[in-house]
Amino acid sequence: MTHLITYFSHSGNTKKVAEIILEKARKADIDIVCKEVNNVSEEDIINAEKVIIGTPVHGLILFAQHAAKPARDFVKALPEDLQQKEFFLFATYLFFPSNALIGIERTIQEKQGKVKNYVAMHRKKKEELAQAVFELISS
Ligand SMILES: Cc1cc2nc3c(=O)[nH]c(=O)nc-3n(C[C@H](O)[C@H](O)[C@H](O)COP(=O)(O)O)c2cc1C
Repeated sequence: MTHLITYFSHSGNTKKVAEIILEKARKADIDIVCKEVNNVSEEDIINAEKVIIGTPVHGLILFAQHAAKPARDFVKALPEDLQQKEFFLFATYLFFPSNALIGIERTIQEKQGKVKNYVAMHRKKKEELAQAVFELISS
């Protein structure tokens, strides 16, 4: 069993965090792959014990925050039976994260997946966010 980090990133912040998580996990000998949401195959999902999903916060600055559409579409397209999988969500933002990750959390829960935790941090705090996610997945 391996773990999968997958992300959508429009301008590189979320991608950078995903790459730092990957580096930390590999150093800790965790079997893990990292792919952009559009490059994830059915097999990647089947093989993953833990799925880590990264997205920027999109919205109208102070309200209507949500995960970016490609990340929402990825979650919607996941198989219906996610019982065996644990999910960890992370987001980068610029102004205010609100509860941007709740929508994708609900979609995963509707498919019986377990969302173990989620965390959002300002896009300046890439190292801190990557460390927080790394600690969540390795605990
Ligand atoms: C279309 C769009 C909408 C955004 N809406 C918000 C928002 O509502 N709240 C916020 O804090 N940041 C918002 N941002 C900023 C991004 O969340 C932030 O820059 C993020 O780190 C971008 O990640 P990326 O470089 O991986 O695309 C928005 C960015 C874009 C492009």
